[in-house]
Amino acid sequence: MVAKTKEDFNGLKEIGEICGAIREELVHCTKPGMTTKELDEMAREMFEKAGAQSAPKGEYNFPGYTCISINEEVAHGVPKNKRTIQEGDIVNIDVSGSKNGYFADTGISFVVGKGEIILQKICDVAKEAFDAGLKKAKPGAKKSALGKAAHNVAKQHGLTVIKNLTGHGIGRSIHEEPKHIFNYFDRWDDEILKDGVVIAFEPMISTFEEEVFQSEDGWTLLTNESFVAQYEHTIILTKEGPIITTL
Ligand code: CO
Ligand code: CO
Repeated sequence: MVAKTKEDFNGLKEIGEICGAIREELVHCTKPGMTTKELDEMAREMFEKAGAQSAPKGEYNFPGYTCISINEEVAHGVPKNKRTIQEGDIVNIDVSGSKNGYFADTGISFVVGKGEIILQKICDVAKEAFDAGLKKAKPGAKKSALGKAAHNVAKQHGLTVIKNLTGHGIGRSIHEEPKHIFNYFDRWDDEILKDGVVIAFEPMISTFEEEVFQSEDGWTLLTNESFVAQYEHTIILTKEGPIITTL
């Protein structure tokens, strides 16, 4: 959507804060021995308390309130009773929701306790790629500048980006125009970013692969052999600078 009114800005900020708080709480509470279902249950309670709805559940009938993906799982991981978190796992928690018709989407990857150095590295580079793209996120700029900046950061570190998952427009629904915010430079993408446009920007950095594929559960996206880290926020682009709603 393109945010115009004070009501738009306030509504986007309200759900952004809710999703950001749930993400932070789940990251904070993640400990070895916990199941992903236990974490998801905490998210359910927080959504309820805030009078907000989970987007994956409400919009896609996803079997969970958040997406929690571990190790070979890259995104849209289904919270499960039988999936126990272990020391050294790379975990992605992605929280999206709505309140009063406004949406937000945010996610982060992190390593539980002590893990392999490369896992922490891809998490750090995902954030660095996000920050590099954010600098280009200005009304009047080319949308493709974000992906170009993110991909450059990955290359500088000898890493790759996932190309068949992208960021997206958001606001009045969870996925809307502009349809794709690529994580690489797409030379055919000449779309110009509008003043007030709301986007979810989510660089995905891989140790060496560029594509994910769908698991047999119909939801979870997997890699073959690499590890992937994601970093995502919902952003309103304004002439006065970007507003990150999900900090
Ligand atoms: Co997300
Ligand atoms: Co998203």
